[in-house]
Amino acid sequence: MNEQKLIDTAKMMVASNKGLLAMDESNPTCNKRFAKLGIPQTEEYRRAYRELIVTTPCLSEFISGAILYDETIRQQKKDGTPFLQVLTDAGIIAGIKVDKGAKAMAGHPNETITEGLDGLRDRLNEYAQMGARFAKWRAVLTIGAGIPSRGCIEANAQTLARYAALCQEAGLVPIVEPEVLMTGAHTLEQCGEVTAAVLQIVFQQLYTQRVLLEGIILKPNMVLSGLTCPQQASVEEVAAATVQCLLRTVPSAVAGIAFLSGGQTGELASAHLNAMNLCFKVQAPWALTFSFGRAIQQSALELWQGKESNVLVAQQTLLHQAKCNASARQGEYKAEMETGA
Ligand code: 13P
Repeated sequence: MNEQKLIDTAKMMVASNKGLLAMDESNPTCNKRFAKLGIPQTEEYRRAYRELIVTTPCLSEFISGAILYDETIRQQKKDGTPFLQVLTDAGIIAGIKVDKGAKAMAGHPNETITEGLDGLRDRLNEYAQMGARFAKWRAVLTIGAGIPSRGCIEANAQTLARYAALCQEAGLVPIVEPEVLMTGAHTLEQCGEVTAAVLQIVFQQLYTQRVLLEGIILKPNMVLSGLTCPQQASVEEVAAATVQCLLRTVPSAVAGIAFLSGGQTGELASAHLNAMNLCFKVQAPWALTFSFGRAIQQSALELWQGKESNVLVAQQTLLHQAKCNASARQGEYKAEMETGA
């Protein structure tokens, strides 16, 4: 295992003032988002949309790496240039989602286990040869009556750790993503307790599976009030609860933390990330940055509507969202930035 290469890649992924762009929606998820906007759900439309993203001028000023999906990593621009080439030429590191999705977990009603370990070594080697330098695996945990269960947390944590070990063997930096969903009526405190319990077990497993912590990126949820909780925490409370939870559970050797947005609006996700960096940068031993999907893409997708004539305006919006989050990563984001591009 080339430890130095892993460490160097991980550092580049969280380079100052940049973050990651998650554009790795599976075909069913991408189609669902297209369907809501009346965009045809075909391979060509998914390709055209991803071409819009990867060809956005100046994206690399704010984005260090882009997470792709299996279909996308094999696709090309209309002129035949592979997307991988486009990203590399722009100075953006390419990564790949390698899990096969969260599936119902036997004996654990309303809980999921993420699948995809079978054959993973071969798939990772293929992606590494194609030019990918990091990978992503998402585990999903739901807060509800009696859940997440110990069995679900442990199974997902061990799976994440085995995936991470295989990635490092293949020379890819693993993004380790244990997502505690924001769906539910739970309080900020409950989310903090569950997230801490999950992260603690994830890091035990990473240690047991001999994963090099300097060569991973953690992609956690922020600690938030549940979507339907009547008492919604303020931006400052979210920032404080999230950083406290991470300080208690994440070893300082970890290369960086890049949050998922999890369905928060772009504005709120930026405000939360900004408050963390503004108030806690000194205490945090790791970079606190973003690996947003919806929070960067949603407004661009809505503007595009599947029409060639909307590409430029959609790209401007995408770039603007990336810029807002790059500012938030430095604690320099202001809500007024949302209006004046
Ligand atoms: P969101 O930021 O939309 O949650 O997506 C991030 C991601 O990669 C989820 O796996």
